[in-house]
Amino acid sequence: MGWVFRWRDHGGIVFVDLRDRYGVAQVVFDRKSAEQDIDALAHRLRAEYVIRIQGRVRPRPDGTVNTSLATGEIEVSVDHLEVLSESENPPFRLDDKGTLSEDLRLSYRYLDLRREELQRYLTVRHKAIAATRRYFDDNGFLEIETPILCKPTPEGARDFLVPARLHPGKFYALPQSPQLYKQLLMVGGLDRYYQIARCFRDEDLRADRQPEFTQIDVEMSFVGEDDIIRVIEGMLQAIFRETLGVEVQAPFPRLSYSEAMERYGCDAPDTRYGLEIQDLSGAFSGCGFRVFEQMIETGQRIRGIVVPGAARYSRKELDDLEAVAVEMGAKGLVWQRVGASGAHDASIKKIVGQETFDRAAAAGKAKEGDLIVFVGGPEHLSSKALARLRLVLGEKEGLIDKTRYEFLWVTNFPLFETDPASGALSPAHHPFTSPHPDDLDKLETDPAKVRSRAYDVVLNGSEIGGGSIRIHRRDLQRKIFQVLGISDEEAEYKFGFLLKAFQYGAPPHGGIAMGMDRIAMLLNGTDSIRDVIAFPKTAKASALMEDAPSIVDDRELMELHIRKIARK
Ligand code: AMO
Repeated sequence: MGWVFRWRDHGGIVFVDLRDRYGVAQVVFDRKSAEQDIDALAHRLRAEYVIRIQGRVRPRPDGTVNTSLATGEIEVSVDHLEVLSESENPPFRLDDKGTLSEDLRLSYRYLDLRREELQRYLTVRHKAIAATRRYFDDNGFLEIETPILCKPTPEGARDFLVPARLHPGKFYALPQSPQLYKQLLMVGGLDRYYQIARCFRDEDLRADRQPEFTQIDVEMSFVGEDDIIRVIEGMLQAIFRETLGVEVQAPFPRLSYSEAMERYGCDAPDTRYGLEIQDLSGAFSGCGFRVFEQMIETGQRIRGIVVPGAARYSRKELDDLEAVAVEMGAKGLVWQRVGASGAHDASIKKIVGQETFDRAAAAGKAKEGDLIVFVGGPEHLSSKALARLRLVLGEKEGLIDKTRYEFLWVTNFPLFETDPASGALSPAHHPFTSPHPDDLDKLETDPAKVRSRAYDVVLNGSEIGGGSIRIHRRDLQRKIFQVLGISDEEAEYKFGFLLKAFQYGAPPHGGIAMGMDRIAMLLNGTDSIRDVIAFPKTAKASALMEDAPSIVDDRELMELHIRKIARK
C-alpha cells in the first residue's frame, strides 16, 4: 500500500513508482486478470492516489536495473489493484527539488511532509530525542513536565498571554522556558531533572528561531559548572553517535566570553576555520588617516582580518565586503592588498604612507598576496561587523568544512548587559544566574565588570545551548535585583514564589537548556529551523496551513472579558 509517486505509460503498459515512508518500488501493470480489468484501472491512476496492490516480485529485465535505488533491481508485477483514496492534482510536484515556494509548501504541509527529505529530517530529530531520553534515563534523571499556563518566566522576550476566563482581567503566560519551575523542582529535592520542553517567545524571528520551539531542559542540585558541562558533553556524544554514527571528542574546548569577542567578534564563533580578528591599531597611530587616528585617540581600536591569498579580489568584491561591514553598523571598511614592502595597494593609499601598510602586514603576519580588511570604531559595532565579515570571507574562500562538527563552551559571560545608549543594566542571561565568586565585591562599584557563572555551548557557530549555576541564597538574589533596579515589590510580585521557596532550604543548583530544533538542524545539515519542525510558523509567526492566528468572534472575547481597542 502506498502513494502513486510517478505514473507513466510505456507503449500501453502502465508503470507506477509506489511510495511510502520506507522508499519507492516500481510496480508494473502488465498482467491480465479474470476478475478485474487491471489495465483500465491502472490507466485511471494519478499522482498521489493511495492504492493497494498484490503481485509478484521479480527481477527487472536486463538493462532496466537502477543501481541508484535501493529497490532498483526488482519490480512488482500486479495481479490485483485497489484504489483506497483518490487525490486532487497536487499543487506542486513532490519530486520537485528545491525550487518550490516555501509558502506553498507550508500551506500544504501534509503534502510537503510526504517528501523524502522532510521525512528524513524528522526521523533524525526523533532519533536525537530518543537518544536524549535514553541518556538521561541511564544517568538517573527524571523527566518532569512543568506548566504551560503559568506565571511569566524571565528570558527577556515578550510573553504570549492567555486570558483567564475564570479570573476577569487576569492572564496566564506561556512559558518562555521552564526556568523557575525547574529551580523549584530543585528546592523540591528532585535533584536531576530534564524535560523535552516546549517554549514560547514572542520575538522577531530569524532563520534559527521560532515563536514556539523545543528545549532539552536540564537542572541539577549540588553541582558546579564542570558537572553540568560533563553531563551535556555526554548527552551530545550520545546524540551524535546514535543519529549520525559520529564520535564526538570530549571535553570540548572552552573559551572565555572576552576571548571569543576578541578573536571572533561574537559569543558563538564558528571554530571550523581561522580568519581570526587581530588588533592592528598599533600600525595606524599617527598614520595620517584622520578617521582612524581619531578612533585611536578616543580609545577605540582598529581591528582586522587577514585573508590569505585574497589580494586578487576585484574592486567590486571589495565594495561588497564594505557593504557587509556597513550593514552591520560599521562606518566603513579599509582594505589592503598586501604586496612587497613599499608596494601595497590599499583603499587609503593616497592618504597613508607605505610604511603604515608595512607595519599592518607585519603586525597581522600577512604575506604578499594576502588581503587585510580593517574596521575601527566602538567595540560593539566593529565586533559585529568583523564577525560578519569573517563568516562571509570564510564562505567565500571555501574555508568552512561542512563535514566537521566543532563544539565549544563559552564561559565567564558578563552578568549584566549595558545598553549602549542609556547605560541601563539588564541580565545577560536571566536574573537568577550566579555572579562569579571572585567578582562579588564589584556588584555595587562596577557591575558591568562582574562575570557570571553562565556558559553557552556552541556548535559550528550556532548557540545550541546555554545555562548557568544559579543563585540559591535570598540575600544575594535581592542584591542582584537591586543592581538591576528591580524593586522589592516588583521582585515580590514577579518571582515572590521562588524567593519564598528559597527561605526553606534551597540546595545549590544549576542547569542548562539546549535548543532541540537547532541541534536537529545541525544534525540534518539544513540551514532552516522550519525544515526540522513538522508544522512550523513563517517568519511572521503565522501558520499558513491552518491559518493561525485568526480572528475570534466578539462573543468569545466577551466571555474572556476582552474588548478590542483600535490602535490609533
Ligand atoms: P536560553 O534563552 O539561552 O536559555 O535558551 C536556550 C537555548 O534555546 C535555544 N533557543 C531557541 N531556539 C529556537 N527558537 C527560539 N526562539 C529560541 N530561543 C532560544 C537556543 C538557546 O541556546 N532557561 C534558560 C536556560 C537555563 O538557564 O537553564 C534558557 O532558556 O539554542
